[in-house]
Amino acid sequence: MNTIHEVIKTLRFTEGQSLLELIYLIASVLFVFGLKMLSKPDTAKKGNLWAAFGMSFAIVGTILFHRVDGEPIRHIPLILLAFAIGATAGWIIARRVKMTAMPQLVSLFNGMGGACAALIALMEFPHIDAAGGVPYGQLITIMPGVMIGTVSFTGSMIAFGKLNGNIGDLRTKALRPVNILLLMIMLSLIVWVMVRPDVHADGHIGAWPVYLLLGLSAIYGVLFVMPIGGADMPVVISLLNSFTGLAAAFGGFLYHNQAMLTGGILVGSAGTILTVLMCNAMNRSLINVIAGAFGGGGAPQTKEAGTVKEISVNDTAVLLAYSKKVIVVPGYGLAVAQAQHLCNEMVKLLEEHGVEVQFAIHPVAGRMPGHMNVLLAEADVPYDKLKEMDEINPELPNTDVVVVIGANDVVNPAAEDDPSSPIYGMPIIRAHTARNIIVMKRGMGKGYADIENFLFYDPKTRMLFGNAKDSLQKLIEEIKNL
Ligand code: TAP
Repeated sequence: MNTIHEVIKTLRFTEGQSLLELIYLIASVLFVFGLKMLSKPDTAKKGNLWAAFGMSFAIVGTILFHRVDGEPIRHIPLILLAFAIGATAGWIIARRVKMTAMPQLVSLFNGMGGACAALIALMEFPHIDAAGGVPYGQLITIMPGVMIGTVSFTGSMIAFGKLNGNIGDLRTKALRPVNILLLMIMLSLIVWVMVRPDVHADGHIGAWPVYLLLGLSAIYGVLFVMPIGGADMPVVISLLNSFTGLAAAFGGFLYHNQAMLTGGILVGSAGTILTVLMCNAMNRSLINVIAGAFGGGGAPQTKEAGTVKEISVNDTAVLLAYSKKVIVVPGYGLAVAQAQHLCNEMVKLLEEHGVEVQFAIHPVAGRMPGHMNVLLAEADVPYDKLKEMDEINPELPNTDVVVVIGANDVVNPAAEDDPSSPIYGMPIIRAHTARNIIVMKRGMGKGYADIENFLFYDPKTRMLFGNAKDSLQKLIEEIKNL
């Protein structure tokens, strides 16, 4: 143990601090570029590696060059042991996780980040106490750090349990006043600690307000997430993610650590942007998601449903194979059926017949951000075939056939023409503007929003009923026989 300490001591630079700051700057730049690359599927993997490299660089730099009262960091073997345990556990979990369990994993990792931020604040609290004289700046970071980090930790654990099916929904409005009360108590406690005259008189502040805040935040995290529906979890996870980022930024502020500060701010702002984007794409306010009031209900539909026309597998195969341009709209049902590989196989066969095929990706198709991108990437669908909603919508009127596979809400024209609909105003893939519409689903089941979809009754629409996997399998056979 001492040998490592001695070796690091020899690395002492007069300009050590500046070197460390340079390392943090480089790490921050790597985070920013990594994050930028994460916004496109074809560069996302590289972006992840860049950001991970930046983080490793910052960690190694800290171990080598950080000085505490002029002395290098001690207990290096213990730190390395903790790294080894954490890295091995993370590596095993990430390798084993199924694509469909990705939201749970994100939630679990996010919860760990929140717990770390809260622990940092807790550990640093006695130090500022002992220092005599409590600087405002440190209190401002410590108290909210404990609160936000802990809420993020317990909230993420509940989100994990819900998505994993271990915890059921508790849809009750009764928790709302309790949550508001808890939030007010916690905020008042923080303000009270800040303005306590005795704190500033002798610098002594008992530990109890921090532990009380810790306990209340833990309860609040649980009660805040409990009433939210399972499928709304991605929005909540993204929100909790932004909380974790904020708590980490508080830690960076506390330690004067620029890499931690930048990393925290990036995570916090990216999480906030994603939360807002998801809410916009679902045409719901964040309050509506958190209050858990969505789906069905609303005003009665004004239109008559009309009749539904079915189509056989054989007719579908002929229609598709003799089209010039086909657009596939994947949705949650495709993911449930795990039919992404068959879908890609069908697309390849159609291309062999000279058909131009593209995929129309709605930002909230499925149940997590980027769900369809991940699903189709897993089936090796080339990225350039995936077109975002705004890009593909103008092409739909010139499309011979749009094939909707297991999607419902994201193609529901009620979003455009029924002001009484709960999804009114939500941007949609305008499948109804195509020349022919084929909808593949098991029956007349509703989507996530639990409302009728008049696309299914459109005179241009024909329904191919059945599990998406079975229908695609049969369709592939038919196309091969043409
Ligand atoms: P949904 O509106 O949920 O519709 C999926 C459809 O798939 C259902 O109508 C169902 O009809 C069909 N289906 C289910 N299993 C199937 C199977 N094995 N084979 C064939 N079809 C199957 O899906 P969407 O259009 O992708 O829309 C997503 C919804 O989730 C939106 O309302 C969105 O706001 C919400 N949401 C999304 C997110 C994110 S971030 N993506 C987060 C929270 C909520 P049948 O039962 O008749 O088969």
